[in-house]
Amino acid sequence: MSDTEKFLQEAFAGESQANRKYASFAEMADKEGLHQAARLFRAAAEAEAVHAANHLRAMKAIKSTRDNLKEAVSGEDHEWEKMYPEMISAAEREGQKGAKMSFHFANEVEKIHSVLFGGMSAATDSQESYPYYVCPYCGNTVARQAPHACQVCGADGALFKKVE
Ligand SMILES: [Fe+2]
Ligand SMILES: [Fe+2]
Repeated sequence: MSDTEKFLQEAFAGESQANRKYASFAEMADKEGLHQAARLFRAAAEAEAVHAANHLRAMKAIKSTRDNLKEAVSGEDHEWEKMYPEMISAAEREGQKGAKMSFHFANEVEKIHSVLFGGMSAATDSQESYPYYVCPYCGNTVARQAPHACQVCGADGALFKKVE
């Protein structure tokens, strides 16, 4: 891999993180009543998302949707088969309850994502149209309608965020 390719990957990772970090900082600023600071965090988050997308394009990492779905399945599978199990063990060993819970939620939901992406891979030509619902606590992702309660974390299904 060339230096430029390596730097694009690094820059993509950094900008992606900054995007999510600023979005969370904006939520905190709103909670504190600091709404203008919240707006600035949201604006910068948007800008970091533009940078991340530009880097990804420069890396030629966006393929056709059929290829992207396959890549998504293998990424999700890697996470729940290998990455998160190791992280969960480490958090358990080190008595880090918050980290363990966070890893556990992600681990459970990556399995669900893999199934959803795999199913979509087999049905890209289907004309069917339906929304998804995402749990605000664990990220559980459910097609068509929100469950009564989240099967991963137990949250009230009414709190799920609808994604059109
Ligand atoms: Fe996922
Ligand atoms: Fe949940």
